[in-house]
Amino acid sequence: MTMRPSALLPFPDSTEVTTAGLIIGGLPLMQIADQFQTPLYVYDELSIRARAQSVVSAVSAGPEGSRAAFALKSLSTLAVLRVLQQEGMCADCASVGEIAAALRAGFVGSQLVIHGNAKSEADLLAAIAADAGLVVLDGRDDAERLATLCQRSGRTQDVLVRIAPGIDVDTHRHIATGHHGSKFGMTPAEGAELLRTLPGGLRGRGLHVHLGSQVLDATPMVDAARWLPRFAKSEGIPLDVLDVGGGLGIAYLPGQDNPDPGVHTANLVAVITQVCEEEEIPVPQIIVEPGRSIVGTAGVTLYTVVGIKTVGDGSTWVAVDGGMGDNLRVGLYGGTYAPVLAARPIDPSTGSVRIAGRHCESTDVLVDGIELPEVSIGDVIAVPATGAYHQTMANTYNLFGRPAAVLVGNGDATLITRRETTDELFLRDV
Ligand SMILES: Cc1ncc(COP(=O)(O)O)c(C=O)c1O
Repeated sequence: MTMRPSALLPFPDSTEVTTAGLIIGGLPLMQIADQFQTPLYVYDELSIRARAQSVVSAVSAGPEGSRAAFALKSLSTLAVLRVLQQEGMCADCASVGEIAAALRAGFVGSQLVIHGNAKSEADLLAAIAADAGLVVLDGRDDAERLATLCQRSGRTQDVLVRIAPGIDVDTHRHIATGHHGSKFGMTPAEGAELLRTLPGGLRGRGLHVHLGSQVLDATPMVDAARWLPRFAKSEGIPLDVLDVGGGLGIAYLPGQDNPDPGVHTANLVAVITQVCEEEEIPVPQIIVEPGRSIVGTAGVTLYTVVGIKTVGDGSTWVAVDGGMGDNLRVGLYGGTYAPVLAARPIDPSTGSVRIAGRHCESTDVLVDGIELPEVSIGDVIAVPATGAYHQTMANTYNLFGRPAAVLVGNGDATLITRRETTDELFLRDV
């Protein structure tokens, strides 16, 4: 058995190479594809647990009550949420559906942090019904709507105010959120004013900031963590809780940085602690909200090759049985991947191919140019780093049912999401 070479680094922690091809969680991917069919999301339990443990342990160095809330938008499959709940994470939810998922997975209301830049009354009522620990306010309207509902039910809700501090991060502009002009949050001055003048029924606990996602250079996040306590002190606003969001990136390609979320969290806790000591203010409870950095590299998507052809410009298309229905990241923000053949992951390349999805859009291209060994119809292609923002963004375009998902570990694969059937596609049509 060979440990994985560096070309396979975006694959999960448990990845090995054997004569049976790529192994994850102790099982050959070819065997998993054969048993569960493709397209298929495969999640490595070991990778998920390891990252959750490191973040939970790092944040617990903060004052009592400090916590790591997993961002359900990145992956909300119940079996994975149960694993994260067991590892001591809390839950960051941004809709009625995500609140329901968290509760079904075993999180309790006090563990929920509720988000959303356009929360509906239904979202807010779900938060109240769940007895959510914190609601993060995105603006004054949000505050007033929540306050009305709380007053009606005689409840006092703990809230944070989300501010966009005007700090830019190096990521795709579609996933930057903390800049001036962002649709998320308020300017620092407006946020402070809202905290000072909250309507009855709301108890202001502090600030929230989330600068963006897939951020590989964490310097701006550390800068924001350093700035926030000083800002709260200068404005004279409460800072019992400081939520510094998520956003740490992962490697999608071999050779890219793959920052450790535990180390990143420890840095944030250390910076906040230090600045509060310098400013002679109490260190707040610290909340972090990682999503991608917990589950991103734990996921691999398997596809079967259904067609191969060389076209007019001489390029070779390899068409697979999935695409933008299970991976929206390519179309949304030019996501890049380094797939391999599951049976022959380290065989030498015989040339560059383009991997086409099956959907009726010219932009449905999973990888536009990758060196692979000779590809044949029926081969299984394994695309790494697809654990976050893939299954949650899956759709039924062209009326293909959404893929199944399995959790692998210790030589076992457990079906955690059934493949969507054609009949299920019509359940909502009346
Ligand atoms: C408020 C908030 N918290 C946490 C996250 C999770 O981000 P990531 O998956 O990049 O860690 C997001 C994602 O955009 C977010 O909007």
